[in-house]
Amino acid sequence: MSEQSNRRILLIDDTPSIHEDFRKILTPTPVPTVELDAMEAALFGSEVKSTRALFELDSAYGGQEGLGKLKDALQVNHPYALAFVDMRMPEGWDGAQTIEHLWQEDPRLQVVVCTAYSDYSWDELLDRLQAHDRLLILKKPFDNIEVQQMANTLLTKWDMTERALVQMSHLEHLVDQRTTQFKQASEALQREIDERKQLESQLVQSEKLASLGQLAAGVAHEINNPIGFISSNLGALDGYFKQLQEMLDAYRDAEEAIGSSELVERLHQLRDRVELEFLRDDIPLLIKESKDGINRVGQIVRDLKDFSRVDSNQEWQWANLQHGIESTLNIVANELKYKADVVKDYQILPDIECLPSQINQVIMNLIVNASQAIGPERGTLTLRTGSEGETVWIEVADTGVGIPPDSLQKIFDPFFTTKPVGQGTGLGLSLSYGIVKKHGGDISVVSEVGVGSTFRVELPIHQSKPAA
Ligand SMILES: Nc1ncnc2c1ncn2[C@@H]1O[C@H](COP(=O)(O)OP(=O)(O)OP(=O)(O)O)[C@@H](O)[C@H]1O
Ligand SMILES: [Mg+2]
Repeated sequence: MSEQSNRRILLIDDTPSIHEDFRKILTPTPVPTVELDAMEAALFGSEVKSTRALFELDSAYGGQEGLGKLKDALQVNHPYALAFVDMRMPEGWDGAQTIEHLWQEDPRLQVVVCTAYSDYSWDELLDRLQAHDRLLILKKPFDNIEVQQMANTLLTKWDMTERALVQMSHLEHLVDQRTTQFKQASEALQREIDERKQLESQLVQSEKLASLGQLAAGVAHEINNPIGFISSNLGALDGYFKQLQEMLDAYRDAEEAIGSSELVERLHQLRDRVELEFLRDDIPLLIKESKDGINRVGQIVRDLKDFSRVDSNQEWQWANLQHGIESTLNIVANELKYKADVVKDYQILPDIECLPSQINQVIMNLIVNASQAIGPERGTLTLRTGSEGETVWIEVADTGVGIPPDSLQKIFDPFFTTKPVGQGTGLGLSLSYGIVKKHGGDISVVSEVGVGSTFRVELPIHQSKPAA
């Protein structure tokens, strides 16, 4: 707001003599010029000006001309504060139309209607211009002091309104600033709450994992011993039986040399009763099956150990995603085999730097979720892997119930579950999200209700930051 108040007045009237009158009333001394101002200032100092230049008066002789002057003034940022407008101007716009146009351009403009008589009733005019509280009426013939006082008061009103506007916009700016600060603070708070929730859930889950891992590792270790001696015994048994067979063959050959036909008969009967031929065929088979079985148990134990490998040192290790998928599949094979056919669509993957047991946990969560999403009817679980540039990816797709759009944003939230109490804690995906993010990767989902869901995990091959 400039300290110099706005003294600019525009008079719109089609009668030239009126302009003369106004000029006498509002600018009583002769029209000032730059030279005169300079001379006066030199002679009397600058105060002279303030007593003389009461108002700056401009003239227009019709509505259109008045509007033109108003626009020019606005363009050079030198607006009029007040307009005196004659009501009755037979050429062009009348007073009411003129005021409408002026206010369209500049609603701040103070307006005084000058009239001896009008084509409108006053109420009609005030209604039309919606100006009950902002239009003054000056009836001809004018009283000088009345005009001066009107001009003074309205110019002051214009100034005060301007000042109020500036204050208002300053206040609005302050409010905006405070609102932004408040919003930022509340966002920061929300982020902190989210982070805490995430950490809390990771803690819960990792504690669960750690104890599960230790249990599995302990069990695996305990089972490993008996597996060791069972498979070595089976190996020995296999060898011994071969030797026994050799011995049996030798006895059979020796039968012909036996003199007593009674003894030979008894041996034949015994051989039939114990089904010696069947035993000779079946015992190696049984041994072979037992060896296969114990090998499988060994594999399961290795998977269990591999899966639950507790990453005590929390350092990146080079590992292959494919191994993780296979050992996880072996572990959940039992649950899967009654629910879904597993389709594997793999590409050869490079090793990646990761925390293998945590990545296994992610794969496990995705496969278990997929299997749980498949309904009573048998479905399909498709596992796809691949690599692109510096990234490897795995997709776990199911033909399950799908995820409704309004749940999609929530599934990675800790404790969000749609499963009955006791079946799901709602931590699987939030933990997986945390793990994948920690690896600098990404996890995303595409799902359609009634069709199925596809989860995709992308992981970088190289890690740049330490894992801890
Ligand atoms: N493959 C999927 N198909 C359909 N819905 C899914 C699938 N995976 C996850 N969801 C939805 O997301 C929710 C959250 O999954 P999340 O794995 O985090 O928890 P949960 O499986 O319910 O419990 P938890 O994994 O802790 O045992 C699930 O309850 C389910 O509604
Ligand atoms: Mg789950």
